Amino acid sequence: MKLAVVSILPFSLFFLSQLSVLSLSERCNPKDKKALLEIKKGLGNPYDLITWDPKTDCCTDWAKVTLSCDDKTNRVTTLSFFNIDSVGHLSPAIGDLPYLQSLDIDNVRNLSGPIPPTIAKLSKLTFLRISQTNISGPVPEFLSKLKNITYINLSYGSLVGTIPPSLSQLTNLEFLRLDRNKLTGTIPQSLSKLAPKLTYLYLGHNQLTGIVPTSFTGWSFDTIDLSRNMLEGDISFLFGKDKTTYEMLLDHNKFAFDFSKLTFGKGLWRLDLNHNKIYGSLPPSLTKQPWQLFNVSYNRLCGKIPQGGSMQRCDQHCYFHNKCLCDAPLPPCK
Ligand SMILES: *[C@@H]1O[C@H](CO)[C@@H](O)[C@H](O)[C@H]1NC(C)=O
Ligand SMILES: *[C@@H]1O[C@H](CO)[C@@H](O)[C@H](O)[C@H]1NC(C)=O
Ligand SMILES: *[C@@H]1O[C@H](CO)[C@@H](O)[C@H](O)[C@H]1NC(C)=O
Ligand SMILES: *[C@@H]1O[C@H](CO)[C@@H](O)[C@H](O)[C@H]1NC(C)=O
Ligand SMILES: *[C@@H]1O[C@H](CO)[C@@H](O)[C@H](O)[C@H]1NC(C)=O
Repeated sequence: MKLAVVSILPFSLFFLSQLSVLSLSERCNPKDKKALLEIKKGLGNPYDLITWDPKTDCCTDWAKVTLSCDDKTNRVTTLSFFNIDSVGHLSPAIGDLPYLQSLDIDNVRNLSGPIPPTIAKLSKLTFLRISQTNISGPVPEFLSKLKNITYINLSYGSLVGTIPPSLSQLTNLEFLRLDRNKLTGTIPQSLSKLAPKLTYLYLGHNQLTGIVPTSFTGWSFDTIDLSRNMLEGDISFLFGKDKTTYEMLLDHNKFAFDFSKLTFGKGLWRLDLNHNKIYGSLPPSLTKQPWQLFNVSYNRLCGKIPQGGSMQRCDQHCYFHNKCLCDAPLPPCK
């Protein structure tokens, strides 16, 4: 074929020699290029990936925002798709990028279909975000094979099913975000095995039921978001003087416990408990906390709102609809 082209078009000799220079010096590993082109096809050949041209070098010529190669091995190590106008799925060919450390897909709204099982082959993966997509199916069991992973963010998707207990095998995990999907079932007891390394846990805006596992006692998250589920029971064990937690989003559940007995870590500054079944009174020690957010509206609390500190920072909307709370910002006690 090469000969035929040369004989038909003499000037193409120059062109061909240029090409062979390019392919000799091309950094892009041919296996990586093959996988990347499959991925592009899976995404529906979006315009945003127009630079992904099979004739050019993926490491040097393809848009830097979308991928990068390692300087020594020339293998693809990061893949990022942000705000891409694409209608398609994530190709199983993703598993054929064995050097991939970071896969970051954010705001690719019409990306649908499940997370391909071949992701389990990416043993070097440390960062996985597939967020603000229409990705569906379960939170896959096979994620537990990604032993090096420190960050998982699958928020704002259409994931269904339960949280796999096997995620507890990800002993390097620091950050887990599964919020804003359609997950059901209970929070697995086994997740407590991820303490103390896992410090960010976001499970909010799902349809989770049952109690928060008591195996979480003694665990200090930086942030815990369980908001807008159907969780119930006593979660006072998440609180305590020795906790380093600074943000607890627990609103819109069915939690029921006596607030008067709680103590708080020094750093706690965001606490949202609105729409639960919490009873008792607000302890005076609350005035010592540096509240940026404190919301206990729509509960069954009673008694005087402690005055001072950051307690009056928020208006009545943080306290209204309780059994008998009173004093500023609500009307005075009788
Ligand atoms: C994505 O889906 C929405 C809703 O179905 C549609 O309006 C929009 O045009 C789609 N985007 C693309 C790039 O096709
Ligand atoms: C999201 O995915 C589902 C199937 O999983 C499909 O029915 C729906 O049309 C998709 N929505 C968009 C906006 O792509
Ligand atoms: C995790 O990463 C280290 C260092 O990059 C590597 O040596 C090790 O093989 C990886 N573990 C797995 C399970 O691939
Ligand atoms: C997870 O993804 C969401 C949506 O893209 C983003 O807003 C959030 O910051 C991510 N989480 C973190 C803290 O990296
Ligand atoms: C507190 O919760 C109520 C709902 O019960 C909401 O209307 C209000 O905006 C919230 N305020 C803040 C500051 O979060």
